Amino acid sequence: TLVLAGQADASADGHQHGGSAALSVEQLTGPKDQTPAVRKTLVAARTEVRLTSGATVDALTFNGSAPGPEIRVERGRLLEVTLVNQNVEEGVTVHWHGVDVPNAEDGVPGVTQDAVMPGGRHVYRFTPDRAGTFWYHTHRDGLLNVKRGLFGALIVEEPVAFDGLDRTVFTHAWPGSGRDVTALDRADQPAGQDAPAGRKVLLRTVNSSEEPQTVRLAGAPFQVAAIDGNAVPGATALEPGTELQLAAGGRYDLAFTMPAGAVTLSLGANPDAALTFSPGGAAGRVSATGGGQFDPLAYGSGSEPGLGGHDRTFDLRLDDGFGFSQGRLSYVSSLINGRLYPAVPALEVERGDRVRMRIASRSTVNHPFHLHGHRVRVLARNGDPVSGSPWWTDTLNIGRGEVYEIEFRADNPGIWMDHCHNFQHGANGMIMHLAYT
Ligand code: C2O
Ligand code: CU
Repeated sequence: TLVLAGQADASADGHQHGGSAALSVEQLTGPKDQTPAVRKTLVAARTEVRLTSGATVDALTFNGSAPGPEIRVERGRLLEVTLVNQNVEEGVTVHWHGVDVPNAEDGVPGVTQDAVMPGGRHVYRFTPDRAGTFWYHTHRDGLLNVKRGLFGALIVEEPVAFDGLDRTVFTHAWPGSGRDVTALDRADQPAGQDAPAGRKVLLRTVNSSEEPQTVRLAGAPFQVAAIDGNAVPGATALEPGTELQLAAGGRYDLAFTMPAGAVTLSLGANPDAALTFSPGGAAGRVSATGGGQFDPLAYGSGSEPGLGGHDRTFDLRLDDGFGFSQGRLSYVSSLINGRLYPAVPALEVERGDRVRMRIASRSTVNHPFHLHGHRVRVLARNGDPVSGSPWWTDTLNIGRGEVYEIEFRADNPGIWMDHCHNFQHGANGMIMHLAYT
């Protein structure tokens, strides 16, 4: 058995007291005795990558490409991934963003495993139980190494596969000379995609950058079929040109039926970044006109009982920390309840608890708050309750002055990291743990 360090009621000799339950290693890892349905190897290495703009970046890749290979597995089937680090000096791990894996498979160095150093390897095994769009990325030196290319898509499919065109696209900010270059990364697919009229298209958008990205789909009405790997019940048709703000780390699955003409996905910040679907696959683009702003708070319909009667409620306050740098008062850190990681106290809950969190930002910048190991349900934003279908997420963009209320069930024991997905902010202190047995 294993006792989590820091658990208040576990004595030094490992004996259990009070209500704390012992956990076996089997409960914290993926199944050891089954044959995986899908086996993959990811080799991390330093590589030079040429962007569509022609510029080259000194990148880090999985299997020679960035994004790395798209991994697909059916829901309920065992996936086994072997990570090999060829020559990334800082070390590498793989975190499965949005998948509620057993704790030991979570890929957080210093918490759930040691970083894999050059020449080393590590095997991950887990069975995803929910179909949807997820992604994987290194969790070591995330600040630079995700940015430099150590990420890819993990698609969990329904047993009956979608029979239309199914494509994944990342919005990524490459470290450029002086300034990040935000691009739509299609993993070597052409910017023009062949799609005849009447064809169903599922376009999975993933934001691997550190800021929210604005994407627009023009040329056809569409639905947001899923948010962060959670299907949206009662998803209604949005007008062509509707603007979507994708949180850093977040995913929107966009579904549409091909019209007679072309459909273009474009990225707000970069006028060159576009992906166009058309009969014949020409790379031209349809520009966006009209359409409002998509808001997940009021989208979809259909209800699902909330957890209610919460057993624990936590208040988190996000703040900027200021200090003197070169004689000027400037931003230096990102705090949770006035503290910097590792001084932020871990949230302690009991297994089975209904947990409610109120996260209030007094910061001047965006904080994409990400919780490991648990998808969460949004209850309210700035006091307004969710009025559409239940809004499930794993990465919530908490803007300047915003307050979110969320809830989740503590049903996945271990030591989890909850943090800002802006890696600079994480490195500057906006990280905390959630721990229970
Ligand atoms: Cu996508 Cu802790 O990360
Ligand atoms: Cu942040």
